[in-house]
Amino acid sequence: SSLLRRDATLSDTYSDAVELANLDWDNLGFGLLPTDYMYSMKCDRGGNFSNGELQRFGNIELNPSSGVLNYGQGLFEGLKAYRKHDDSILLFRPEENALRMRMGAERMCMPAPTVDQFVEAVKATVLANKRWIPPTGKGSLYIRPLLMGTGAVLGLAPAPEYTFLIYVSPVGNYFKEGVAPISLVVEHELHRATPGGTGGVKTIGNYAAVLKAQSAAKAKGYSDVLYLDCVHKKYLEEVSSCNIFVVKGNVISTPAVKGTILPGITRKSIIDVACSQGFQVEERLVEVGELLQADEVFCTGTAVVISPVGSITYRGQRVSYVEGGFGPVAQRLYSTLTSLQMGLIEDNMNWTV
Ligand code: COI
Repeated sequence: SSLLRRDATLSDTYSDAVELANLDWDNLGFGLLPTDYMYSMKCDRGGNFSNGELQRFGNIELNPSSGVLNYGQGLFEGLKAYRKHDDSILLFRPEENALRMRMGAERMCMPAPTVDQFVEAVKATVLANKRWIPPTGKGSLYIRPLLMGTGAVLGLAPAPEYTFLIYVSPVGNYFKEGVAPISLVVEHELHRATPGGTGGVKTIGNYAAVLKAQSAAKAKGYSDVLYLDCVHKKYLEEVSSCNIFVVKGNVISTPAVKGTILPGITRKSIIDVACSQGFQVEERLVEVGELLQADEVFCTGTAVVISPVGSITYRGQRVSYVEGGFGPVAQRLYSTLTSLQMGLIEDNMNWTV
């Protein structure tokens, strides 16, 4: 894999940004720390993206009638850059995010950047913000590409103009638990996605839709919510911000991606890593009852990486798994995945750029 060694060409700094000197790299968490630059590329009426440029990170101007504000015509992506010991930078499977954004754009009636445009824009943004990439082992630079209808519409229709924007923020662990197990509650009234809906693409509305159940769960002390399918109300779907895996012996099962489940890139990578380590991986309907028999349960996502699940509560019944840390299967997968992402082992998969 080719490493990004070029220095950022833009070396002046954004004065309003949090000073790097004050940044506590050991306690990053997952919150926005404003960085120096963001990338913006407009799309004309003909669907052509061009004139992408780096700008100072800051507020953007939007027409009050823009498609994204009025009708939710928007998508986002999430990926990470890691700093290696030799100070070079690794991106993890950025072309997968580009492809997923293209898939989502098709569903949301939006034009999308090509894979090359996407990946080049990500590289430019990361390099321009290089000083914000955490030291090796302290976290990563979270990269957030957005695609949105920024042209004005009033009657319901696709927006006449689009903006592809990328901003970045240094991050650590997603859940406040760190890498300690999280507690989930199964939601049986509210649903995240419906067949034929948009659950399988990374549209912004999917995330607003889970806030209500998530807030209620957090108020009761749970870390997050596990959703069920809305038809049978008995098959696992996913957690608000990550996919779910259930381990029983040598078999690792995860809900199949069939339109209501977000096709996670970490999900896909873990399936490949698990298969290569001799596990039997099943992508299928996973019944909520299977949680009772499971040896381990864990979540995967770009932000989350791999998070062990310590307990799941369903209709008042609580099942507990490994206490205090990772179960052996999640631990093994986590070590391999993060070693690949951070460039600590040979990337036989060809996943890092
Ligand atoms: C990610 O894992 O990158 C996501 O997009 C989930 C988000 C809610 C933080």
